Amino acid sequence: MYNLTDRNIVLGVTGSIAVYKAVDLASKLTQARAVLNTIMTPEASKFVAPITFQGVSGRRPYWDMWDANNDLAEAHIALARQAELLVIAPATATVIARLALGLAEEMVSLTALATRAPLIVCPALDSQMFEHPATQEHLDTLRSRGIQIVGPEEGRLASGQVGRGRLSEVDTIIGWIRHVLGKDGDLAGKKVVVTAGGTHEAIDPVRFVGNSSSGKMGFALAEAARDRGANVVLVSGPSALPDPVAVEIVRVRRAAEMRDAVIAGCADADILIMAAAVADYQPAETVRDKIKRRQSETLSIPLVPTPDILAEVGVRAGLIKVGFAAESQDLLENARQKIEAKHLDLIVANDITASDAGFATDNNRVVILDRGGRKEELPLMPKYDVAWHILDRIVSLLAGKKSQPEA
Ligand code: C5P
Repeated sequence: MYNLTDRNIVLGVTGSIAVYKAVDLASKLTQARAVLNTIMTPEASKFVAPITFQGVSGRRPYWDMWDANNDLAEAHIALARQAELLVIAPATATVIARLALGLAEEMVSLTALATRAPLIVCPALDSQMFEHPATQEHLDTLRSRGIQIVGPEEGRLASGQVGRGRLSEVDTIIGWIRHVLGKDGDLAGKKVVVTAGGTHEAIDPVRFVGNSSSGKMGFALAEAARDRGANVVLVSGPSALPDPVAVEIVRVRRAAEMRDAVIAGCADADILIMAAAVADYQPAETVRDKIKRRQSETLSIPLVPTPDILAEVGVRAGLIKVGFAAESQDLLENARQKIEAKHLDLIVANDITASDAGFATDNNRVVILDRGGRKEELPLMPKYDVAWHILDRIVSLLAGKKSQPEA
């Protein structure tokens, strides 16, 4: 169902202290049900024993070209042919140089030369080595061949110094893997605008009217759309979540800013998904100085409605609009009214009184309603999975197919 399941990924591991992160990467890819084969350089096998990768992936790694007991003479060609993607993480300066020059000196560079699958290279090296013109030129060569270079990141290095050279975080690497594997997905060529999080409507320089939306549902939608090949613009209100990989993110604060970003993004978009919990009201004016506390007085702040973003985007042929309805009462009735009032193609309704779903949780339980009055009730599931279901419905709409859920 998801874009890592049964996908044939080869992980190339080279001799850096960051190898320990590659074990976690191998474990997570295997848990996501990828078919993961690991190949290692002899140096990598000195940092972490090959059996560790066997333990987490269930497959014996290839690492010794001269081991008479295995079928390695054929193995690299077979692996290289089967691979849908080769990820080299961590990639040392030496291996980066071998890749640039086409030197097949050990299993990893040999497989890289033999495969026609896309390549992701995640450097991990000392900052001096990274900055060296030789390494920079080799990385430019790899980029010019369409190879995706991920990282390295800034931070503490094995030498104890701080600089650019750290292997990217495992979740970042997985984001790139999903993106590269999803390029031919069923949303390829489509532009999707997704909104996420709540908005902060300023009362004074330090206070605001807001809500407890975390942005998790919108971020999951943006990632799932990316993983199906879409070009994604994510317009997010204040959220602690990090920028998703390979998604254009526009961070905004107020509903009015969100409206401007959404309208700009929708000019040539195919799909708008408004998952944001936009504030319905904003202070009539923002006070310039911090409001002082006065013990003997009550304080009233006049509120006026925020712009209705979905209404302002309006109806445009070719633009599919999906809204969300977070309700604490009369869930379905309110959702039905909103689908009409806001001219939506679909509305995703969730009951925010449930403690295990909805705002700021990792899971959600939603009902998807369409214009024909059909409703699809989904069980409690991770927000990424909810996102995948919503996108299934959108893909059906794009194909002009009638969706099949119960009437
Ligand atoms: O807040 P409400 O439940 O009415 O939100 C329903 C839908 O309308 C959501 O998709 C939300 O993102 C969108 N909305 C909007 N502009 C607003 C308020 C909500 O587009 N000012």
